[in-house]
Amino acid sequence: MTDLSAPIELNDGIRMPRIGYGTYKVGDDEAQQAVETALATGYRLVDTAEMYGNEVGVGRAIAASGVPREEVFLTTKVWNDHHGAEAARAALEASLERLGTDYLDLYLIHWPSPKQGLYPETFQALLKAREDGLIRSAGVSNFLPKHLEKVREATGVYPSVNQVELHPYFNQPDLRAWHAERGIATESWGPLGQRTGSVLREPAVTAAAEAHGKSPGQVVIRWHLQNGCVVIPKSSKASRIAENFDVFDFALTDDEMAAIDALETGQRQGIDPGGNER
Ligand SMILES: NC(=O)c1ccc[n+]([C@@H]2O[C@H](COP(=O)([O-])OP(=O)(O)OC[C@H]3O[C@@H](n4cnc5c(N)ncnc54)[C@H](OP(=O)(O)O)[C@@H]3O)[C@@H](O)[C@H]2O)c1
Repeated sequence: MTDLSAPIELNDGIRMPRIGYGTYKVGDDEAQQAVETALATGYRLVDTAEMYGNEVGVGRAIAASGVPREEVFLTTKVWNDHHGAEAARAALEASLERLGTDYLDLYLIHWPSPKQGLYPETFQALLKAREDGLIRSAGVSNFLPKHLEKVREATGVYPSVNQVELHPYFNQPDLRAWHAERGIATESWGPLGQRTGSVLREPAVTAAAEAHGKSPGQVVIRWHLQNGCVVIPKSSKASRIAENFDVFDFALTDDEMAAIDALETGQRQGIDPGGNER
């Protein structure tokens, strides 16, 4: 059986922790304290983005944490207004500067932004940055299979990771299977489904929580891990940062997994990546 507390190996040989600390809506001031708390708790993956406006705080936290830089798996993302080879490279260099580091473990294209149509070229720039030692792994976010295929046609490779909206109400079984067949790791954003307001109150979730003496949040995080996904819950509260990481002392049964899978509604909470909004 897979040890879910051990890193997964990506299609480029890089090892990535399966659970990380997400920083969307964590302000730059708050980020230093929150990320330091996460690192002290044991998280070794931190997920930020140019668009979150908190890279300075995240970088300060890593520097102040006492955890060696090489033990932290740091992810950030290039925003939509920096697609294209030159703009993406400049955005990467600016992110590195704000983060106070000379390399990233994973750099993601935040959205495919199909209206611009530059994402294959942007991904090529990520591969060049990998060659140049500025990033260890090149991935994407919010890509549909058609976008991933276009990237492969243009560059010869699939991204290492696709970070997508994924939670019990939108659990993307087809996309997960498609990724698995092609060696692309699935990383879940919005994993607790909190935009829906009700995932953590679902009887399938609360019953499993009661059965294992865990919280609903822990059950949902464990469900992601057992489904083979990398998961990056966010919390601004120290108690929940710790709670969300404490998911390695129990396992959901097949029936519990199936009951949570069955909460699927087919409804996204976020933007449709195939549209032109982003
Ligand atoms: N690539 C993309 O387009 C994209 C989009 C969205 C997010 N992301 C990434 O994914 C990360 C996670 O997504 P997210 O932040 O949207 O959603 P999330 O982690 O699913 O949910 C965060 C919300 O849940 C609450 N929460 C956290 N732990 C809880 C627990 N154990 N029990 C009950 N409530 C809990 C938090 O409140 P408190 O803070 O008050 O605890 C916060 O309101 C982001 O931070 C970001 O790094 C990426």
